[in-house]
Amino acid sequence: MPSPHSQPPAGQQARLLQTHTPELFANAVAEVVEALRKGEVVALPTETVYGLAANAWNPEAVRRIYEAKGRPAHNPIILHVVGKPMALECVAQWADPAERLAAAFWPGPLTLVLPKSARVPEIVTAGGPTVGIRWPSHPFMQAVIQGCGFPLAAPSANRANELSPTHADHVLRSLGDRIPLVVEGGQSQVGIESTVIDLSTPVARLLRPGMIHETALRELLAAPADDGSGNPAESSGPLRSPGQLPRHYAPRARLETWEWKGEADLAARLRRLQPGFRRIHLISHTRVPVGLGEAVHVSVIPHDPEAFARALYAELHRCDEEQADLVVVEAVPPGPEWAGIADRLRRASA
Ligand code: TXA
Ligand code: MG
Repeated sequence: MPSPHSQPPAGQQARLLQTHTPELFANAVAEVVEALRKGEVVALPTETVYGLAANAWNPEAVRRIYEAKGRPAHNPIILHVVGKPMALECVAQWADPAERLAAAFWPGPLTLVLPKSARVPEIVTAGGPTVGIRWPSHPFMQAVIQGCGFPLAAPSANRANELSPTHADHVLRSLGDRIPLVVEGGQSQVGIESTVIDLSTPVARLLRPGMIHETALRELLAAPADDGSGNPAESSGPLRSPGQLPRHYAPRARLETWEWKGEADLAARLRRLQPGFRRIHLISHTRVPVGLGEAVHVSVIPHDPEAFARALYAELHRCDEEQADLVVVEAVPPGPEWAGIADRLRRASA
């Protein structure tokens, strides 16, 4: 019997496939593999955020991703692989830095940008010479890639300029009327998008911070190459970050990050703003603020970078659903573990 959750809300055509028993899991893998072989797009769980996947070798299938998302054609899509041999089919170069980073962090939330192989269609890379690849750790995603035998192109499974989904419900709400299949794979365990590092240039560049943070990457890149010579690897040196901050990863409401000195200060600032906003949501993480009045909706998420990242997008999606018009997020501490989260909050408030 399908659970009541497998029926999409009225107006949505997507079917939701459940995976929470071995039998459901195996049936869903078989159905998804078949759909992907036929060139369809399917929304799949990954450990970072849900992805909208298609056969990377099939330009027509990849075109459907751009169409469903309303994604601009100049924005490249990353490839998802299982195992190094499949990664090697996608790239024209695999030097020591890629080997080390992959050995340390794959399967996991790290995307490596490398010169693309001739086999990768132009539409995947938006015509560019490089391709982003990662080996995801989510068991369902892995089973599907293995079943397909080809890499999956997959951006986050949301319409362009909306928040990334961390639950199947988020996907249904954003794309439910545009795609045929969504797989329920539970809450995304990392919760923000993968770290993206460009290894195609002489000095590695951090293109998007994430939960695998810069300090960890830098340590690995700077460590001496394991060639017995004792010389540092070619890749040593600073990571350069392009530091673009377009508005992205944002809820519909205006988002601000604040620091406050005690609850009286916070309450006074909120009171001053209240006439201009119908519904204010406050997301804090150090303590439960009290005495803010009925008009401010408060949620508290854990003060731990990993748990915070896991909870953040679900909170922001809820703010959208409840039509908040202002979201105030308590500023996060400095430090490399928080850098990916701080990046998303900065972009959401840009
Ligand atoms: O965690 C993730 O990375 C998720 C899951 C589904 O794997 N995917 C994801 O994809 O966030 P997307 O398309 O929403 O974000 C990928 C980012 C985009 O900012 C894109 O511009 C960048 O990576 N990107 C992709 N290929 C690139 C390339 N060849 N060079 C530079 N940037 C690239
Ligand atoms: Mg995205």
